[in-house]
Amino acid sequence: MTKPKRTAKPTGSAADFIPPHATLSKLRAASKGCRGCDLYKLGTQTVFGEGPGSAKVMVVGEQPGDAEDKAGRPFVGPSGKLLDHAFDAAGIDRDDVYVTNAVKHFKWAKDARTKRRIHKTPNAGEIRACMPWLEHEIALVKPRVIVCLGATAAKALLGRTFSVMKQRGIALESTWAPAVFATVHPSAVLRAPPDQRALAEKLFVSDMSAVGRYLRREEARVARRARGSRKLGGWQTTAHPSAISNASIQSSRR
Ligand code: URA
Ligand code: SF4
Repeated sequence: MTKPKRTAKPTGSAADFIPPHATLSKLRAASKGCRGCDLYKLGTQTVFGEGPGSAKVMVVGEQPGDAEDKAGRPFVGPSGKLLDHAFDAAGIDRDDVYVTNAVKHFKWAKDARTKRRIHKTPNAGEIRACMPWLEHEIALVKPRVIVCLGATAAKALLGRTFSVMKQRGIALESTWAPAVFATVHPSAVLRAPPDQRALAEKLFVSDMSAVGRYLRREEARVARRARGSRKLGGWQTTAHPSAISNASIQSSRR
């Protein structure tokens, strides 16, 4: 699939471009031709999610930035560097993470003075139009944990009234995954005033550490259950996955 001509009309939803029996690679290929909203005219290319299809963690950002728009890959610029640092500090294996964005084209406007491309926040209609790509990524990867970076991703997955500042760094119940966490966007950390920069980074890393702890606890629980069912001759039934995830949500809130 190639980039559509700028004269083509947007259809109103990415759903019009989702192939049947989609796999991640089929979705990625089809996303190149998306004109679900006007943003395909602004961005250089569609920046689809990236990472293993078996990833336990899915990180959802807002939209590609300047560097990502040029490279065609998510989180390769300054925000991605800070994200990698946070994963490292949180003991999360970067190879176990699928990274993507709520909106898959870069929305920008030229700064009159510097002529640089300035990021513009996507609006509700653009987020809604792009949502089918994210929905299909989640359905195929089936992550154990989703991490929303910033208000755009959090509102897309947790509802329009969700407040990152009030509920950051805790495991939330959701139909998208056994646990959904929200934290600030790394670009907000990078933009913090100099006297608040260190604290902002510390809080960001601390939120990511809560995700790391949740994952390690969940892995330990799965290993214990496997040992338990072997001891009982392997025929014992285990609790329903939703019961397990609810229990882990409770414990990670403590
Ligand atoms: N910011 C995002 O939200 N996503 C990216 O891919 C890069 C920067
Ligand atoms: Fe399609 Fe999303 Fe790009 Fe809009 S932003 S054209 S819906 S991929």
